[in-house]
Amino acid sequence: MSKILVTGGAGYIGSHTVVELQNEGFEVIIVDNLSNSKIEVLNGIEKITGVRPAFENIDCLDYMNLDRMFETRGNIDGIIHFAAYKAVGESVEKPLMYYRNNLVSLINLLQLMPIHKIKNIVFSSSCTVYGQPDQLPVTENAPIKPALSPYGNTKQICEEIIRDTAHAAPETYQAILLRYFNPIGAHPTALIGELPNGVPNNLLPFVAQTAIGIRPELKVFGNDYNTPDGSCIRDYINVVDLARAHVVALKRMMNNKMTENIETFNLGTGRGLSVLEIINDFERVNDVKVPYQIVGRREGDIEKVWADATLANEVLGWQAKETIDDTLGSAWAWEKHLAETEPKSV
Ligand code: UFG
Repeated sequence: MSKILVTGGAGYIGSHTVVELQNEGFEVIIVDNLSNSKIEVLNGIEKITGVRPAFENIDCLDYMNLDRMFETRGNIDGIIHFAAYKAVGESVEKPLMYYRNNLVSLINLLQLMPIHKIKNIVFSSSCTVYGQPDQLPVTENAPIKPALSPYGNTKQICEEIIRDTAHAAPETYQAILLRYFNPIGAHPTALIGELPNGVPNNLLPFVAQTAIGIRPELKVFGNDYNTPDGSCIRDYINVVDLARAHVVALKRMMNNKMTENIETFNLGTGRGLSVLEIINDFERVNDVKVPYQIVGRREGDIEKVWADATLANEVLGWQAKETIDDTLGSAWAWEKHLAETEPKSV
């Protein structure tokens, strides 16, 4: 059985990926310092898959402990590296915290890989590297635009670090960079999902918390953009679809199917939806009300972006399958599950 290390495996995308890996017969070791996740997520993973993944409470900044973990666990076949800070606004306030965490964690892993004879790494990147693309849908060849936040910059720099490292030692490394568009929704069992810390920054957790009454109203950031209804457009991708792409990417590496030792893929649906469309769809699908108010634009927001996912379709044989209705339904089911199991956090 192949053994995969998942850093940040207790987090939102990480936990869904662990489920898909275990469903496909991989043995998983999670490395997570629980800085933005809860240990209880392991119960959800175990309930869904029947297997409790191995767990190591290690900070990826801690080179010595990571080294010891690789030594004792032995024979790891690949790494999926999710562990990173991801709040755009916070990164503007605390840039060094973001640069240290996101960059040094990756560097530690890349340095330890050859020492422990691990060749394969999948990296969580983001469509943020494109900024506002000149052409839509955006392909992987679109120019990388100057980052609008330290967070976005860490994703660009991490991509470069991996590219340079893989280029310098092609026999030693294989890397797949996955550029996520906007992941939303939860596992269909509602046993795992997104656990926002405090007031959510992202749209869907805010919509769900407003619908359930934790927040009095959603603020829609701007309706004067150059889009059909004036609100921003994003490519919202179901988190389980996204998770499945990681399994496909890993198999491609492990079966020596890569054409170059570094490959990059967009992971999106190819379809853009506006903020107002998301609100309307959420209300319709779940038969709930989402009170909202239009306010001014949020600084740093991109007007519109959606993916050309042709490369992932053709090369990985991966495609987003879940419908937006099912996805928004899963987000609501998860919010209701949280309301039953968690005290209200404001
Ligand atoms: N939005 C609102 N109200 C809210 C929250 C969001 O109207 O309370 C809008 C935003 O203005 C945006 C859309 O909903 O138009 C999506 O916003 P999110 O914060 O959910 O997602 P972003 O597209 O801003 O963020 C994503 C990723 C980040 C990445 C960023 C770069 O989540 O990792 O794109 O633009 F850095």
